[in-house]
Amino acid sequence: MATDELKALEGQALAHLQQCADEAALREWSTKYLGEKGLWKAAFGKMNSLPKDQKAAFGQEANRVKTVLTEAYEKKRAEVKERELQASLTTNPLDVTLPGRPRPRGRLHPATQILREVYAIFADLGFQVYRTREVETDEMNFEFLNMPAHHPARDMWDTFFTTIPRVVLRTHTSPGQIHVMKEAAGKPIRVILPGMCYRNEAISTRSEIQFYQVEGLVVGEGVTMADLKGTITAFARRMFGPERQVRIRSSYFPFTEPSIEVDIDWPKEDPNRDRLTKGTGWLEIMGAGMVHPNVLRAGGYDPEKVTGFAFGMGPQRMLMLAHAIDDIRLFWQNDLRFLKQF
Ligand code: DAH
Repeated sequence: MATDELKALEGQALAHLQQCADEAALREWSTKYLGEKGLWKAAFGKMNSLPKDQKAAFGQEANRVKTVLTEAYEKKRAEVKERELQASLTTNPLDVTLPGRPRPRGRLHPATQILREVYAIFADLGFQVYRTREVETDEMNFEFLNMPAHHPARDMWDTFFTTIPRVVLRTHTSPGQIHVMKEAAGKPIRVILPGMCYRNEAISTRSEIQFYQVEGLVVGEGVTMADLKGTITAFARRMFGPERQVRIRSSYFPFTEPSIEVDIDWPKEDPNRDRLTKGTGWLEIMGAGMVHPNVLRAGGYDPEKVTGFAFGMGPQRMLMLAHAIDDIRLFWQNDLRFLKQF
């Protein structure tokens, strides 16, 4: 009788199932008995060769056996799972009193933090933030800033040229002065111009090919050098501490006349003082000056009627000073060991 064969298979499979003790054994069992090429399928295949009057009974029996095996398998699998869970709870118990693992929290990049600090200080002094483009014409980056073609002062900036003639990556934020003046069209101006600048330098601990600058520009009737000194001093004391002394040295920039460089005295308590200031006690923090008449004219202002002052500083350099960071390359390397400290 063909159905006897099915009964034998059922008995064998159930006995075998009792011996399966883990997931792997169960998987094997399932393949062996219920799989595509398994024993149940093989037994079922014999139905074709049965005489017609036996087929129906055989089919019913085959389906019953399949249901019995499937149910037994599911039941066994649930048991094994439960047993494995219990085992893992007792051999490797949970300590619910352990403190939770903190989720890593994102934060602002140190360069962004220092920029925001600078914005906040100048906001209190009545300056608006004005952003201009990073790709500039030669005219904006140099010519309107009182450096016609072949002017030797252009050598102060190692320039990245694009493949389009007379289009460069800005080497400083100063061309923003021209953009602001053109937009303000004769009205008084008090803005800072933050942004990325690019220079064709060999990358080293001291120079990068890209870095932030913050430019400042004030234009109006009766703006004087005294206003420049007052603004810079107020800024330096907010940024570096209320005791800071500010020193002004004469300097040269094509776009200002007179031009100055601004130093602050570095705190005597700082053990890095001598190294940072090369023994002088003073640190340069920015270039500045009274806007050159040619620059005012390029921006559409009449130097007979208005005057202005401008300054330019490197906020990353300030952060480096404040934290004794001695490698500027750390800023764009995205090394978390560095970034996490801010
Ligand atoms: N643009 C100058 C630089 O990149 C910095 C600077 C100096 C800006 C004097 C100014 C200024 O506005 O008056 O080195």
